[in-house]
Amino acid sequence: MSFAPITPELAPGYDGPRVRQAIRDNLFVHFAQMKGFQDPEHRPLLLVRGDGSTVWDADGKEYLDLLAGIYSVNAGYGRKRIVEAMLAQAEALPYVNPFGYASVPAAVLADRLGELAPLGGEARVFFTSGGSEAVESALKLAKQYQTVRGFPHRWKTISRRVAYHGTTMGALSVNGLSGNRGVFGPLVPGARHAPMSHRYRCPYCRDAAACTLVCYDEIERLVEFEGPDQVAAIIVEPVQNAGGCIPPGSPEYFQRIRKLCDETGILFVMDEVICGFGRLGTLFGSTYFGVEPDLITVAKGITSSYAPLGAVLAKKGVADVFLGEGPGFLHGLTFGGHPVSCAAALANLDIMLEEDLPGRAKTTGAYLRQELDAAFADHPNVGDLRGAGLFLGLELVSDRVTKESFSDKALLGWLTDRMRDQGLILRNDDRNDPTTQLCPPLIVTEAECDRVVAILRDAFDELGRRLGTVGTVHAAAGTESRALRPASVED
Ligand SMILES: Cc1ncc(COP(=O)(O)O)c(C=O)c1O
Repeated sequence: MSFAPITPELAPGYDGPRVRQAIRDNLFVHFAQMKGFQDPEHRPLLLVRGDGSTVWDADGKEYLDLLAGIYSVNAGYGRKRIVEAMLAQAEALPYVNPFGYASVPAAVLADRLGELAPLGGEARVFFTSGGSEAVESALKLAKQYQTVRGFPHRWKTISRRVAYHGTTMGALSVNGLSGNRGVFGPLVPGARHAPMSHRYRCPYCRDAAACTLVCYDEIERLVEFEGPDQVAAIIVEPVQNAGGCIPPGSPEYFQRIRKLCDETGILFVMDEVICGFGRLGTLFGSTYFGVEPDLITVAKGITSSYAPLGAVLAKKGVADVFLGEGPGFLHGLTFGGHPVSCAAALANLDIMLEEDLPGRAKTTGAYLRQELDAAFADHPNVGDLRGAGLFLGLELVSDRVTKESFSDKALLGWLTDRMRDQGLILRNDDRNDPTTQLCPPLIVTEAECDRVVAILRDAFDELGRRLGTVGTVHAAAGTESRALRPASVED
């Protein structure tokens, strides 16, 4: 492939060093301590080109992108069909005001998603420009829905600790990462948090043969405590990202939440910003668990990140409450459902369905999982392998028998840098116990998976040497060989 480090026509007068200087001096990089960028060797990577699952930096170095952008380039890089659809729409009409007007691609996309989503058909779609706005909009939609139905006192929400639902003030309020919330208080009142469902580290039943669903009981208790007639919505992810690709301890978990919502009138919101669009091996993450929520939030993979877009998909029965004499949903965003983004999403959806990308996530995910299981079933520093489809996490421990974790964030930073040196971009998630996350574009090949496993093996062995658990013998003495992921829902 021909390689052009910095595209001159897009950045006239800027070469690599000048762009790096602009990053050092002018760019606010998201969630990053920018002081470190004074060191030219330091992150961030300056990526300039992509194809399939591979990206190149400005120096021409090649990487496998096992983070798919940020859990989002589902169809992979270099999809001309998406680019051409965006270009055609931009040439015809780049923008339509969504406040009372509609664009053709937004209407068509709403129609197609409404049919495809596991919401009983005919769902209505409210477009946003990203995931936080989708969550924000879902929470507002739930609150106005409850008010219109005659329950203005239903203003509380329930989400889970550690779960990441975004950064705008409403989304941040349901976000369960205390480190992200602390400095921004007071947050939106009424946001309550239940424990997560996390089999490997469950405080209630991790040593039991199967999940006892006490994690669900905690949600029910919280609803009782807060008052079922005061809760507007419960929001959860199918497989929780923060903490490292955590599926519920039992498939029954979401069915129980569904039943609770049916009995109490609370809306069930599934946050599929990551798990939607094929990631788990099904087009929607709710389908993987056989559950039908009331609202689904999506973003990221909806356009495979070729353009910014998010959405709230609302079950017909919920959306219909907004029809009638009142003002409609009191909410809008200038860039919600931008026509160029919706055109990208339509082309992306065609690719997903024609190439069966959810099916590829399922089969390649099963292959990757099998190879990881074979490589790390005995590794003293790999405690758990979990997740679904092509959203897999390996929890790293200092002792796999006691499950003792390590809190040295510098060690995780070192691990990420080492993998990057070897041509692999991925996230070693430090938001809970350290977990290496594997979330490639859904077109990743088995040969690429083999490369990933080889790099991980080398990196985890070196990690083990630093932790003093990997010496000349690979497995820790006395550690019984066993298959990983004793407790995840994936099969
Ligand atoms: C589950 C979930 N919800 C919401 C968001 C927020 O999305 P965005 O970063 O597009 O605002 C994210 C982002 O990673 C997410 O993972």
